[in-house]
Amino acid sequence: MRIESLMRTVFWNYDTNETKMIDQRILPGELAIVSFKDHVSLGHAITNMTVRGAPAIGAAAAFGLALAGFESLASSTSTLLEDLEAASATLKKARPTAVNLAWALDRILDRLRGFSGGADDLRQAVLEEAQRIADEDVEINQRMAQHGAALIDDGDTIIHHCNTGALATVDWGTALGVIRTAHEQGKKVHVLVDETRPRLQGARLTAWELQQYGIPFDLISDNMAGTFLHTGQVQKVLFGADRVAANGDVANKVGTYMLALAARDNDVPAYSVVPTSTVDLSLAHGGLIPIEERDQAEVLEIRFMGQTATPKGVTARNIAFDVTPHRLLSGIITENGVVYPPFDENLPRFVKTT
Ligand code: MRU
Repeated sequence: MRIESLMRTVFWNYDTNETKMIDQRILPGELAIVSFKDHVSLGHAITNMTVRGAPAIGAAAAFGLALAGFESLASSTSTLLEDLEAASATLKKARPTAVNLAWALDRILDRLRGFSGGADDLRQAVLEEAQRIADEDVEINQRMAQHGAALIDDGDTIIHHCNTGALATVDWGTALGVIRTAHEQGKKVHVLVDETRPRLQGARLTAWELQQYGIPFDLISDNMAGTFLHTGQVQKVLFGADRVAANGDVANKVGTYMLALAARDNDVPAYSVVPTSTVDLSLAHGGLIPIEERDQAEVLEIRFMGQTATPKGVTARNIAFDVTPHRLLSGIITENGVVYPPFDENLPRFVKTT
């Protein structure tokens, strides 16, 4: 049975020239679509995680650049290009770790810098390229899912971290896309969903998606994963990434490192599932990846028995991502196939650099 998607996570409305997206802050309570008419507001939506997940951030930024084109009053191509460069610089500041953000903006501007038509043609060309990025994301995720699903065995229990599903992409998903495709192929899979403190992308978003797809799962708190691995109850660990360095080190949602350590200690294969737009060959190793630190309120907001859980005056740290060293990964699943170690030698062959 093919599971049809409800809608894309982020899309362009051609009647109103607006960017629309699912507001991921209020799911699963409410499924609401919000609209953006300007690139600055759209940048804020990336920062406050109305839209989140590396590929979805990339597509949203691409549509943000299209908005900037329509906002600009420039009548010449060269002035419009200057406005677009400025908008790109603003959008790039929205979040630091997901390289898809800069990747999407650079791809559009790199292709259009020598543009020979008029300003209105350039506005349309930016929108067309943004739409292409969004459409390709769905197709790439489905190719990745086919490669990944071949590694899943009937009866597998899989630990999954954060949300890597349709909501983290334009549609279908990365690691969760692999699980969806394995399920569609008729393999019996069971997912242990890390709740993913502090923003609960697992508990809120992955659980919501898995319910819609009819894939069996149980929610676990992040600190239970080690015991499930140690007691032989897990066959695979799957997660996405926000940036992969040239040596295969992977920055992903905080908690991934501890999960990969526990998987390796128990000989359970751990795979990162990423489109090649998430691979940053300009960085030699994961220590060079910029890691976002967010507001401490996200950690302190936790409630227990109807009350704030922490005493007044407590301070917190809120590191949003960690780096998993490549030695802990069994493979990196891309749209061009599964990359195995040594990653520094093999990754460049899978990444198209045009
Ligand atoms: O802070 P988020 O929710 O944007 O973090 C998302 C993740 O860490 C995902 O695992 C990652 O973007 C890859 S999923 C497509």
